[in-house]
Amino acid sequence: MKLAVAGTGYVGLVTGVCLAHVGHNVICVDIDEEKVNTMKSGVSPIYEPGLEELMKESYNDGKLDFTTDFVSAYKDADVIFIGVGTPEREDGSANLDYVFGVAKQIAESIEQDCLIVVKSTVPIGTNDRVEGHIKKHLKHDVNVEVASNPEFLAQGSAVKDTLEASRIVIGVESNNAEQILKKVYTPFNQPIVSTNRRSAEMVKYASNDFLALKISFMNDIANLCELVGANIEDVAEGMSFDPRIGNKFLNAGIGYGGSCFPKDTKALHWLASEHGYELKTVKAAIEVNEIQRFKLLKKARDYFETMNGVNVAVLGLTFKPGTDDLREAPSLPNVKALIEEGANVKAYDPVGVDNFKKYYPTEIDYTDTPQEALKGADICLIFTEWGEIKELSPSSFKELMKTPLVLDGRNCYRPEDMKDINYYSVGR
Ligand code: UDX
Repeated sequence: MKLAVAGTGYVGLVTGVCLAHVGHNVICVDIDEEKVNTMKSGVSPIYEPGLEELMKESYNDGKLDFTTDFVSAYKDADVIFIGVGTPEREDGSANLDYVFGVAKQIAESIEQDCLIVVKSTVPIGTNDRVEGHIKKHLKHDVNVEVASNPEFLAQGSAVKDTLEASRIVIGVESNNAEQILKKVYTPFNQPIVSTNRRSAEMVKYASNDFLALKISFMNDIANLCELVGANIEDVAEGMSFDPRIGNKFLNAGIGYGGSCFPKDTKALHWLASEHGYELKTVKAAIEVNEIQRFKLLKKARDYFETMNGVNVAVLGLTFKPGTDDLREAPSLPNVKALIEEGANVKAYDPVGVDNFKKYYPTEIDYTDTPQEALKGADICLIFTEWGEIKELSPSSFKELMKTPLVLDGRNCYRPEDMKDINYYSVGR
């Protein structure tokens, strides 16, 4: 089978590389020529552990290629995966322009029967529309079908999550589409859940929104723990032994960021309201998260009336460790507020600095080590639990900072190790 993948962002590139790794012939398409040349030269355009190695290996084996020439990539493909972005619009709905743009290119290019598989996260019912859109723009007399095949990869572990997925969900409207997708996924040897298209689309939103809700729930409880003298980590541990609850995604902190949870909670809430229904649980997850992301700044107000002239050390910029991605990272609105108030900000992040500089090229001092950021600081705000930050010795705060006041948004240290200094963490 010849497989093509539209879009080489997180979803598209990881999908293409992993499909090639298990033995398929894959061509990845992107409109960005520079990006295509970068990938051909063996460099991954995104930071993702293990991706570059597998990409190079499959490219050198001739299993994987990259191109901007979508016509030649799509015209004789048996299966085309769509993995382009569906960013959030201002009203919270998903922007589907890229999906429909690619769908039109596919329609105008294909010259043989083809299965089109949408991996992008799209609102329920979109794949019906994508199929209609493709059929309308076909240039040749061929049979096309659209299947939904949401991905569940998390950034920082995307390759592992794909090669060792907990499940593969396929949403199909025909036996033919189901058989083709099962054949594609046979080498992965993972459980396959086969549903209709709309259910598959919903599985993706329901999974992400459930996880977002789990985090917001723990943050809500953490806030209460602070008031009643309980410790959220002990509470989480006590809960985690119940298999109905599970031991994952129970970490309290300054809320969820990233390219999925904030967008997908808002998109599903928006979709429900379009149907005259209020999704109250998801709304609660969103509201808790909005408040939680400013928790450190709110706490800082207990110590400083204004941040004007305060020396602030920011440790961690990315929305989570293991990625250079800043989408919906709590650091962004917090640093914005600090700068606006006239704080002197020094920031450390092991990989996120280049991307952060796109927002704040000169307004803050970037340091190569966490120690340099801490030197002379009045307050330290921790936004990401990078290993380099967690490994800091508790005494370094006292030794390096002017006034050792540490507000830890990711519970990086044991409170008992920080007794010597003014240390605040979430829910403990
Ligand atoms: C998520 C889903 O995990 C993945 O299945 C889906 O396909 C895409 O969205 P991702 O956004 O890459 O993946 O990261 P994830 O590890 O899920 O973390 C999301 C956010 O939640 C991060 O900001 C993280 O810090 C936060 N989080 C996670 C918590 O605050 N507490 C937790 O216990 C877990």
